[in-house]
Amino acid sequence: MFGNLPLALDITNLRPFVSREELTRREAAVAFCDRQLKEGVCAGSAFTGWLRPDSILGPGEADKIREKADFLRNNSDVLLVIGIGGSYLGARGVIEALSDSPERVVFAGHNISASYMAKLKKRLDGKKVALNVISKSGTTTEPAVALRIFGDLVKDRRLMVATTDRKKGALHDYAASLGLDTFAVPEDIGGRYSVLSAVGLLPAAYAGLDINALTRGASEASQAMENAPFESDPSRIYAAARHVLFLKGFDTEILSVFEPGLFYMAEWWKQLYGESEGKEGTGIFPASCTFSTDLHSMGQYIQQGRRRLLETFLMIGEGSADLAVPRSEDDTDGMNYLAGKQVDFINRMAYEATAKAHADGGVPNMTVFLEKADERSFGALIWFYEKACALSGLLSGVNPFDQPGVEAYKKYMFRLLRKPGYEPMEPDRSGRDIISL
Ligand code: PA5
Repeated sequence: MFGNLPLALDITNLRPFVSREELTRREAAVAFCDRQLKEGVCAGSAFTGWLRPDSILGPGEADKIREKADFLRNNSDVLLVIGIGGSYLGARGVIEALSDSPERVVFAGHNISASYMAKLKKRLDGKKVALNVISKSGTTTEPAVALRIFGDLVKDRRLMVATTDRKKGALHDYAASLGLDTFAVPEDIGGRYSVLSAVGLLPAAYAGLDINALTRGASEASQAMENAPFESDPSRIYAAARHVLFLKGFDTEILSVFEPGLFYMAEWWKQLYGESEGKEGTGIFPASCTFSTDLHSMGQYIQQGRRRLLETFLMIGEGSADLAVPRSEDDTDGMNYLAGKQVDFINRMAYEATAKAHADGGVPNMTVFLEKADERSFGALIWFYEKACALSGLLSGVNPFDQPGVEAYKKYMFRLLRKPGYEPMEPDRSGRDIISL
C-alpha cells in the first residue's frame, strides 16, 4: 500500500457515491486553487508559511528547541502547556498519539473552568513544574487567565518559556519583563497550521518525540504530493472528494479513529477544518468518533440516521502492542474462537466491518492509512491535512486562513467583563423564556 510515503488514502468506499469521472472533473478547479496557493495569490496568502515545512524553523532553531526541551525535561517532573486552539491542540495530538510518557505534559488555558484549574493545581502540588505558555497574539483571555493562576508554580525562571510573536503583544512584553526564554510563532503561519513550529515542537520534544522526524515527514509529504499527478495525490483527491460530496448534500464529516490515543489528533483536525472552512454560510461540519467505543453510542445514528454524513477513518498500519486473547479451558463465554488472536487484529476487523457497514448504510467513506505510529508518519499526516484543508477552503471560495467568527463571543464577553475599551453591558436577565417547575 505504501510507496515512498508513509501515508495512503483509500477511496474504495466512495465508489457508490462519487465516480472517478466526478473526481477528475474537479482536477482543473483543484489545480487552479493549488496554483493560487503556491504563487501566494489566494485569499489569506500571507499565512501559507506551513506549505514549506523545511522553512518553518529558522537556522539552528530545531537545535535550540531540543536543547531547551531537554533542559526542561531534566529539571522538572511535568510540563504545563498553557494555550488554546491552534496553540495547544497539535502538540496534544502528537504527544497523546506517540509519546511513551504523555502524562508528563499537562494542559491549561484551553478553558475557563475553575474546577478544572483547581483540580490541576492540586495535582501539580509538590511537583517540579516547567511551563510553556503559547499564544501567537499574546492577548487571548483563556491562556492569560491560566498564566495568572499557574505562573507562580514555577519558581525558577529558566523553567518558564513563552512561545509568541517575535516582536509584539502582551505575552511578548511579559516574557521580556521577566527575561524568559522565548520562541517565535512564525508571522506567516496561523495558529491552527502552526504545529510544526515551536508551538508544537517544544512540547513534543519535552515528551520525548523526535521533532526532526516530524518535520522530515512533513517535508517528504510536501515534496511527494506537490510533484504527484492529481490522481495519485492523496491531498488533492481528498479535497476534491469532500467538495463533490458537499455539493451532493453531505455536509457533516466524521473523522473516525480506532485508537483512543488519536482522540486529540481528531480534535486538532476538527479545529483545522472547522475554522478554515466554516464561514460565509458554507463548510462541512467536522465531527469525530472514537471506535469501537462510539459504535455503541453514535453507531446507530451513523448507520441509519439522517443521510448527510461522510466519514474518514484514520488508521495506523502497524499494531503497536503485542497482546493476544487468552484461551479458556471451559469456554463458558464462548470467546475461544478469538483465543490466540491479536487484539490489534480484532480491532482491525472491527474497522473493516464498520467501513463496509457504513458504506452500505449510505455513508461515503475514505480511509487515511499511516504506515506506523511514528513521527515521520505523523509529520506526513499533518502536512496532508493542512494542504487538503487549504485546498478545500479555496474550492468553496472562502479564506481558509482567517477566523473572523471567533470574535463574536469575545466582544460580548469583554463587554460583560468590563474590559477597558469595551462598552459595559449587563447579562440580560429580564424577559427570558425560562421553563421551570
Ligand atoms: O487558529 C487560530 O488562529 C486560533 O485557533 C488560535 O490558535 C487560538 O485562538 C489561540 O490564539 P493565540 O495563539 O493568539 O492565543
